[in-house]
Amino acid sequence: MSRKAYFNELAKTWDQEYDTPELSVFLKSLIHQFGLKLGQRVLDVGGGTGILVPFLIKVVGSAGSVTVIDYAEQMVQKCRLKYAHLHNVSIELQDVEALVLPAASFDVITCFGLFPHLTNKEKALHQMERVLKPGGKLVLAHALSSAEIKAHHRSVSSAVRFDVLPTKPEMNRILQQAGFTEIRITDEPGCYLCLATKSQRNKDL
Ligand SMILES: C[S@@+](CC[C@H](N)C(=O)[O-])C[C@H]1O[C@@H](n2cnc3c(N)ncnc32)[C@H](O)[C@@H]1O
Repeated sequence: MSRKAYFNELAKTWDQEYDTPELSVFLKSLIHQFGLKLGQRVLDVGGGTGILVPFLIKVVGSAGSVTVIDYAEQMVQKCRLKYAHLHNVSIELQDVEALVLPAASFDVITCFGLFPHLTNKEKALHQMERVLKPGGKLVLAHALSSAEIKAHHRSVSSAVRFDVLPTKPEMNRILQQAGFTEIRITDEPGCYLCLATKSQRNKDL
């Protein structure tokens, strides 16, 4: 089974399984570490059924906006059922490795539970850097440590069996190569958080 087929299948029961009161408590406190501000434009990559949406909207307010992208049709459908009626939320079927969004158009990009699943992480980072405004923030977050993610993926399905986070030095290297600075990585039981900033300077100069 491909990863995309796996996530399409999971969409049916995703919220019952993962949208728990415990996760809400975790996200309520995690969201404050994202550095979000009122009125900002946020892109949630691999947003699935939209678990992060209410938390993001609460911080950016009605003057801000949230764009959710996901490449699994069933995830996008579930997310639209929940949030398409909100004036400042848009939900698109897109693959982050081939993003069709204007350059320099977002203040913050969030990826919750996404990064290990990317086939070409460098390509995805390059695309995310392109659509961030100079000085914009990238957030890669998980409700597990990198070691816990590795063990979890190994046990759930052959589709994601080898999906892991890069080591800290490798993560630093690929983020810098993609044009990110101010990289901070926290990796502890129950939480992985990587924050990075798009350089103000043109990386191609
Ligand atoms: C572990 S789920 C997390 C979903 C959501 N962020 C959450 O926490 O509930 C990973 C999501 O990333 C999506 N995904 C994986 N690779 C992707 C890609 N290349 N482009 C866009 N979405 C992708 C999957 O379809 C899936 O919905």
